[in-house]
Amino acid sequence: MKPISGFSKLDKKEKINWLTQHYLQNDKQAKKTLKQYWNEDAELQRLHDEFSENTISNYYLPYGIAPNFLINGKLLALPLAIEESSVVAAASKAAKFWLDRGGFHTQILGNKKLGHVHFMFHGDKNKLQNFFDTVLKNKLHEETAAITKNMIKRGGGILSLELKDKTLEIPHYFQIEGKFDTKDSMGANFINSCLEQFAKTMEREISESAEFSKEEKNSLQVVMCILSNFTPENMVRAEVRCQIEELAEEEMDAMEFVEKFALAVRIAEVEPYRATTHNKGIMNGIDALVIATGNDFRAVEACAHTYAARNGKYQSLTHCEVKDGVFRFWLDLPIALGTVGGLTSLHPLVKFSLNLLDNPDAQELMGITAVAGLAQNFAALRSLTTDGIQKGHMKMHLFNILNQLGANQRERDYFTVLFRDKTVTHHAVVEEFMRLRKINNPEDLNQNKE
Ligand code: MEV
Repeated sequence: MKPISGFSKLDKKEKINWLTQHYLQNDKQAKKTLKQYWNEDAELQRLHDEFSENTISNYYLPYGIAPNFLINGKLLALPLAIEESSVVAAASKAAKFWLDRGGFHTQILGNKKLGHVHFMFHGDKNKLQNFFDTVLKNKLHEETAAITKNMIKRGGGILSLELKDKTLEIPHYFQIEGKFDTKDSMGANFINSCLEQFAKTMEREISESAEFSKEEKNSLQVVMCILSNFTPENMVRAEVRCQIEELAEEEMDAMEFVEKFALAVRIAEVEPYRATTHNKGIMNGIDALVIATGNDFRAVEACAHTYAARNGKYQSLTHCEVKDGVFRFWLDLPIALGTVGGLTSLHPLVKFSLNLLDNPDAQELMGITAVAGLAQNFAALRSLTTDGIQKGHMKMHLFNILNQLGANQRERDYFTVLFRDKTVTHHAVVEEFMRLRKINNPEDLNQNKE
């Protein structure tokens, strides 16, 4: 097969034809699969097609609701877009649990984002620093005025500019580090536009300055200008707390539960193997809410994991304290989110999510997102340290097998009761299903779908 040039120029139908012809033996079913996800509303379909490039279909994610989240005294229903079973159920369960115990509380611990002009300079670094302080810094502010004007009107803008000497890490490597407040926008475009202007201004100012030798001027090389997705100063804390007695479980006393729970958190603080799974569970809630609100979950993931590894060892993002009869459990999360710009005003479901959340500003959304992560982690640790995780998962596993077999509602009810206290295995379910439907040969299973 030859590589194709000009794939992007083909229309949607031509792209599908080319693909199925070259990779899928012109399979009609493959084309049908792609088309069955197209939206009947041509306008809506065009909108989705234009979010990305070379689009040939839509990829659905289930969109679920976890109600009863009491956050800073406000009762919210959280929208969660996620394909993994049990996540929405776990979030709902944790919400209900904390509803009776004061709910969740959030606090913004910082709202600074950063970005860098990464550059090389072979010359006198004291001279460079002095030039930055006395000339360049003001020029950088001046020449980004057109970009920052609107952001300043909204109360944001450039917070600080600093020259960073990185020559110990890489010889001749420096940065201009900018810190920004981007208010309710995620801010990537704003920050990157400022940084690119900083680079242009610096190149021109240094080339025109009498301070630097010809060699020094020629040695200046801008490598790249880009925001950092690591935002440790753009931080939110979500927290729950209650008296220890309030945590009593049916078959376990409160102190026993708290001690085991705290130990589970401690293990994730010291053991990277556990911390990875522990944090994955936190991200189940966070990503689902980030996707439902049209934010960039890759940026959120990258930031959370860098923060988790900030001490040179990958650690838990949540922490727990048991002191003076009080149980406290919290999540510190650096996260950059937007409630304006990007998909927020374009994607109808994103708009719906933000309306549902009472149109939060970016800081409120940071809090709600952190709560989704904390709730998820609480639910996971509560299961893990009591009944184990499989009990909840087994029902879903059973339903997945029954769906594959084409079981009807009567059969689903029968199997739910039958497997209430048994381990669900594919083999055991199929065997009972065949007995029930009087099927002797497993190959006949598909023909028996109702
Ligand atoms: C599964 O998606 C997430 C958990 O493994 C998280 C955890 O172990 O804490 C249940």
